[in-house]
Amino acid sequence: MKQAFITGTSRGLGKAMAEYLLNEDWTVVGIGRSHSIEHDNYKAVTADLSLAGVAENVALEIDLRADEHLLVNNAAEAGEIGYFGNVSNNQFQRGFQLNLISPSILMNRFIQLTNKSLSIRKIINISSGASVNHYDGWGMYCSSKAGLNALSMVLIDELEQRNDYRTHVYSIAPGVIDTDMQQVIRNASKKEFSQVERFIAMHKKHHLTSAKIAARKVLSYVVSEPPPRSGRVDVREFILT
Ligand SMILES: NC(=O)c1ccc[n+]([C@@H]2O[C@H](COP(=O)([O-])OP(=O)(O)OC[C@H]3O[C@@H](n4cnc5c(N)ncnc54)[C@H](OP(=O)(O)O)[C@@H]3O)[C@@H](O)[C@H]2O)c1
Repeated sequence: MKQAFITGTSRGLGKAMAEYLLNEDWTVVGIGRSHSIEHDNYKAVTADLSLAGVAENVALEIDLRADEHLLVNNAAEAGEIGYFGNVSNNQFQRGFQLNLISPSILMNRFIQLTNKSLSIRKIINISSGASVNHYDGWGMYCSSKAGLNALSMVLIDELEQRNDYRTHVYSIAPGVIDTDMQQVIRNASKKEFSQVERFIAMHKKHHLTSAKIAARKVLSYVVSEPPPRSGRVDVREFILT
């Protein structure tokens, strides 16, 4: 059996990824503030990952019978889209906690806890095109996602140094997806985000991917055999078969 821990499974990409894996007979532990999946193999863990001290203590009950363990750091927020000087100080604290600090701690705990098993281990950090592109008004979001890329690459380096061939790490940009997060982005003011009209036009022209297709792209890549090489990838480079 295979066990996945996914943050943010109540909606959007996280929910679609959980449903994809449940359909493939995985057991899924969903971690977030709320839950919308009911399935015999789904376990709900309620936690607000934007709060300090929560990721350290959230239940990560590793099933040592599993031959594969997966952690997906998916939960994130765009935060307040706005220029320096106009956004609240608190949104940096909250956004970095949710988008970067909690994922770092969950990675650390996942590696520690699965050291006791001999399973295949995989970590997916859901990154963004914004991790390598700088958008005005997106200070917290761009830098938190760039940080997630860096965390992934450092861990990959450490695994290579230790000749750890059972652990695979991916920092994946999932493309532009039709979720609540895009609604937040389209609602930004043009004065505080110069590209807002491009995002509105993409939505009007139906250029956004559905969460279901994005989830399939991410997971069919990561769960393929043999596991693909660890690294940073953008699903827009994939051809869906
Ligand atoms: N949508 C896009 O176009 C796009 C593009 C590039 C990258 N991404 C990335 O893809 C991932 C998923 O985004 P999405 O578009 O699916 O977002 P979404 O629709 O806004 O969903 C976010 C998920 O995260 C959870 N979450 C939010 N705040 C949380 C908190 N404080 N504690 C715990 N969980 C929390 C939410 O659940 P609760 O509210 O129930 O807690 C929800 O399930 C994110 O990492 C995002 O940065 C998205």
